[in-house]
Amino acid sequence: MSLDIQSIRKDFPILEQKVYGKPYAYFDNAATALRPLQVLDAMSKIYYQFNGNPHRGAHYMSNQTTLAYEHVRDQVHAFINAPLREEIIFTRGATESINLVAYSFGDAFINEGDEIIVSEMEHHANIVPWQLLVQRKKAVLKVLPITDRGELMLEKLDELITSKTKLIAICLVSNVLGTVNPVKEIIEKAHARNVRVLIDATQSIQHLKTDVQQLDCDFLVFSGHKMYGPTGVGCLYGKKELLDAMPPFMAGGEMIDKVSFKGTTFNELPYKFEAGTPNFTEVVGLGAAIDYINNLGLDKVAGYEHELLEYTTSKLKEIDGMRIIGEARNKTSVISFLVGKIHPYDIGMFLDKMGFAVRTGHHCAEPLMDWYGIPGTVRVSLAVYNTFDEADRLVEAIKKTIQMLS
Ligand code: ALA
Repeated sequence: MSLDIQSIRKDFPILEQKVYGKPYAYFDNAATALRPLQVLDAMSKIYYQFNGNPHRGAHYMSNQTTLAYEHVRDQVHAFINAPLREEIIFTRGATESINLVAYSFGDAFINEGDEIIVSEMEHHANIVPWQLLVQRKKAVLKVLPITDRGELMLEKLDELITSKTKLIAICLVSNVLGTVNPVKEIIEKAHARNVRVLIDATQSIQHLKTDVQQLDCDFLVFSGHKMYGPTGVGCLYGKKELLDAMPPFMAGGEMIDKVSFKGTTFNELPYKFEAGTPNFTEVVGLGAAIDYINNLGLDKVAGYEHELLEYTTSKLKEIDGMRIIGEARNKTSVISFLVGKIHPYDIGMFLDKMGFAVRTGHHCAEPLMDWYGIPGTVRVSLAVYNTFDEADRLVEAIKKTIQMLS
């Protein structure tokens, strides 16, 4: 059975609102998705019924919260098909997950002269932590280039990898281009040369099935709020052998085994990397988001979003002066574009006044903008509640905007 989009939309009451008196069409899902009632209810329930600090009390409420928190670890474990539940670390988001690896893996395994490879299409969160690391360690950051269509030049990877290469950090889906990268192939090439791979799954986790065993990635990161979950929560998956060998990132309560002024020993995985009171309410919200996606069926979501992507792209291409930035053969859910010489901010501003939420600017990917030689783009990013009717209305609104600005 196909998805009933109108019934799905009822789970997102925010969509019923009007902005500036106009129906609200939300096309900024790559920045942050909307949250369904199921997620909001799960979080309210924690505050109303089960408030207690997980792992820190013998009392009833603390135990309930601990059970709820650890249940979500099981859910993530299954959702990404991780080999072991202790390989799932809760963080505040993908950015924190990448920083954790950059500091902790970097501390343990990156030395002077070592090399790290990222791609030209990375988000700043998958560039700057590595820049800071190479500065700290006097290491080297190298960049895998892309083609005009917005696909990786995979053939260049073999030249880029040397005996000094320790890590490749790469997105599964670009937040600007929507390109789905051939990460399995990259991981195979990397492992053949003894190089570890971190996958930024922030823009794929909500659209495509994730299977870390099938990928055989060493690390994988994502955020809750792009997958219909709350802000302030994300995950790091890492292979146990690596996480065990890595020193703690943040220090504080719960990450310890024994503390004394003579010296401190550390907790086992995953707690070694979860210092301080965890964001347990958000973690429970993330669990509800996973249930929500599983109930819809990620395959059906991907199928629907793909049809909507193709349809919206073809309609946009009918507009005079339209330039789609990112025409990879394998794409999902993101369409970036420019029209003639019109500045993306102007298009975004007019669309906003007509009730359409899109993102404009460099999308935290300035090196990519420099590569294309553009100041930014207008970005339309889709989610399962977007409709073909909204896409038609968006295209009409863009045409109207162009008329007004010409
Ligand atoms: N990373 C988010 C985006 O691409 C904020 O919009």
